[in-house]
Amino acid sequence: MGSEEIPMPPGLPIMGNVRDIDPAAPVQSLNRLAEQYGDIYRMNVYGTRFTVISNNQLINEVCNEKRFSKNVNSALRQVRNGVHDGLFTAFHEEEASWGKAHRILTSAFGPLSIRTMYDDMHDIASQLTMKWARMGPSEPIHVTDDFTRLALDTLALCAMDYRFNSFYSAEMHPFVEAMGSFLYESGQRSRRAPLPAYWYRKVDEKYFADIATMRAVSDGVLKARKEQGTSERKDLLQAMLNGKDPRTGEKLDDASITNNLITFLIAGHETTSGMLSFAFYNLIRHPEAYRKAQQEVDDVCGTGPISVEQLSKLKYVAAVLRETLRVSSPIPAIAMTPLKDETLAGGKYFIPAGQNISLLLYRAHLDPAVFGDDAKEFKPERMLDENFERLNREFPNSWKPFGNGARACIGRPFAWQEALLVMAMLLQNFNFRFDDPSYQLHIKETLTIKPDGFYMRAQLRDGLT
Ligand code: HEM
Repeated sequence: MGSEEIPMPPGLPIMGNVRDIDPAAPVQSLNRLAEQYGDIYRMNVYGTRFTVISNNQLINEVCNEKRFSKNVNSALRQVRNGVHDGLFTAFHEEEASWGKAHRILTSAFGPLSIRTMYDDMHDIASQLTMKWARMGPSEPIHVTDDFTRLALDTLALCAMDYRFNSFYSAEMHPFVEAMGSFLYESGQRSRRAPLPAYWYRKVDEKYFADIATMRAVSDGVLKARKEQGTSERKDLLQAMLNGKDPRTGEKLDDASITNNLITFLIAGHETTSGMLSFAFYNLIRHPEAYRKAQQEVDDVCGTGPISVEQLSKLKYVAAVLRETLRVSSPIPAIAMTPLKDETLAGGKYFIPAGQNISLLLYRAHLDPAVFGDDAKEFKPERMLDENFERLNREFPNSWKPFGNGARACIGRPFAWQEALLVMAMLLQNFNFRFDDPSYQLHIKETLTIKPDGFYMRAQLRDGLT
């Protein structure tokens, strides 16, 4: 037992603290409660208890994988209905299937393989640039929608040589429609009141039909690739078809390939779109940072085509992305659980084995003990290579937008290359401003966070066509 009680907001019988959480903005609710109850507090939702932690000291302790492991929390458990033991949603105890896929895919997601995807990334980034150029400077751009199109089309092309062509049709591809509804409903299901199943039968029918649509598209792509025999392509699908687990010599079966193909699209699209949207919001809000980022792109890339070699020279742009992920991490919380009964903070707080701990990055990334009194301010300078390395040395686990340890993001090099390219291409070609200069940031929450109602206008720069 711990020496201190973990603070807990008063709740109602049966429902517990359900009414403390706004279903449309659960993370912002948890953040408000942290302001009130402190860096650690406990919640009860229909009898299920979980602990919320939101400072670097506690998070650093819980990131120790000898004592804690990733917890597939209630929303992710629902996502399992669609992708089962795919990498993102595999339980800790499913080490056999997770480990096999992880080992086979690690090299496919390594920096060298990602470089071979550069031309496909460039293709989709050019489509976005062309669209915005044609829209002209007086048309408001719905920023998150277009970055979501970009992220999805890039993933589908690089992962499985499939084109959603989102920039060429007003309607979203049926896969994309189905995935959007599936993710939304997975979130809803995780907060459902415990009513008889028949109460939900209409939404459930649609939910399982959406899953069938996603799996049918993915199975179709897999079947076509297998019929084609050997392929020259070095995409993720081919890596999964050819790859052998170095430990067991086994290959992935078809169901696992489909689970992971859909997983990449789910895990990679909102996150990348959120990061790019917040990055442009931050740059427009901070003209000096904007000027420096654009100047760097001009110095490194000039006005010609952007090459993959140039991307690693964009040090300030990289710092803009890191700082963006700090102040507005698209995945605003990750979940861990103790492997056995544990105490935190030197024996103070007791957490039983298996209980969910929510690591609220949304607040911990602004910890003044790490980032100082100006922690809430957007300052890319603090994320320049040297400062970033010092931060990770002095305050381990203080910057966690890509998750923790073995279960951290496998798609990080992919997202990084794509984001640097898109930032460079857009800053090279356009000047941006808010559509509505009085726009105030609102956060929209799904399984990730994004700026809500954010529109900007794009003016082609002088001398560029
Ligand atoms: C895991 C963030 C892009 C695929 C994660 C986790 C985070 C994260 C926080 C850990 C989740 C947890 O602990 O529950 C991000 C961010 C991205 C991004 C911020 C973009 C800025 C991508 C992309 C892909 C991807 C582009 C695929 C191409 C995955 C997968 C996992 C994962 C498969 C599960 C890894 C495992 O458990 O083995 N990501 N991600 N992510 N991400 Fe990403």
